[in-house]
Amino acid sequence: MYHLAAILSAAGEKNPQMAWDVNMKGLENILELSREMGVKRVYWPSSIAVFGPGIPKVKTPQDVPLIPSTMYGITKAAGELFCNYYYERYGVDVRSIRYPGIISNKVRPHGGTTDYAVDMFYQAIEKGHYTCFVRADTVLPMMYMPDAIRATLMIMDASPKKVTYHMGHNLSGMSFSAGELAKEIKKHIPRFTCDFVPDFRQKIADSWPQSVDDSRARKDWGWKPKYDLASMTKDMITALKTRAKQGKPPS
Ligand code: SER
Repeated sequence: MYHLAAILSAAGEKNPQMAWDVNMKGLENILELSREMGVKRVYWPSSIAVFGPGIPKVKTPQDVPLIPSTMYGITKAAGELFCNYYYERYGVDVRSIRYPGIISNKVRPHGGTTDYAVDMFYQAIEKGHYTCFVRADTVLPMMYMPDAIRATLMIMDASPKKVTYHMGHNLSGMSFSAGELAKEIKKHIPRFTCDFVPDFRQKIADSWPQSVDDSRARKDWGWKPKYDLASMTKDMITALKTRAKQGKPPS
């Protein structure tokens, strides 16, 4: 069973009580159902949002104190413990990845702090301009959707002997600044311009790592990303242009 639904970081800060209710109650329902029905394996995503200020920002280790500053991050940190409890107490085989910001060409982003890295592509193609809500020097860990799907299936397919950790696994794809992304997009769309007007999401971004140490995922179940900034950007732009030509804009 794959349980992906959640209220993300920026939306969660607008209504923290609802974020707690939706994210924690949703997870509780899934864990309880899995226990009662004997579901063989459960996937639940954690996030880089479990990390908060005061930890190493570069190559953030797997095991550091988790003191998130958003309600979304709190539900992910608590959710990791909740999953681990169900594994230890009831043997529910829950597996989890701390996703970086996910970049997709199929769905428009909403409610997250990493949304700019997706929105920038859509606006570059549609309008030739984007106003980014974080500073140009903001660096966050990101991952292209095909890598995220592959990682998710890899951890779920791995034998229980390999997945002995039942909290969220750090997972890295690529890291870049918002300014670097704008420059990379400009290589494909020369008329593209971008300005940077930080809003409340800057503080959230500043509390998260710039990159994570995913050596546990690499060693235990063989993780290795395929996409970097250049190959992801090329693929995103090709895919979005093709969809626009076909009259099938992302939902
Ligand atoms: N992409 C998420 C967010 O920005 C982080 O997991 O909230």
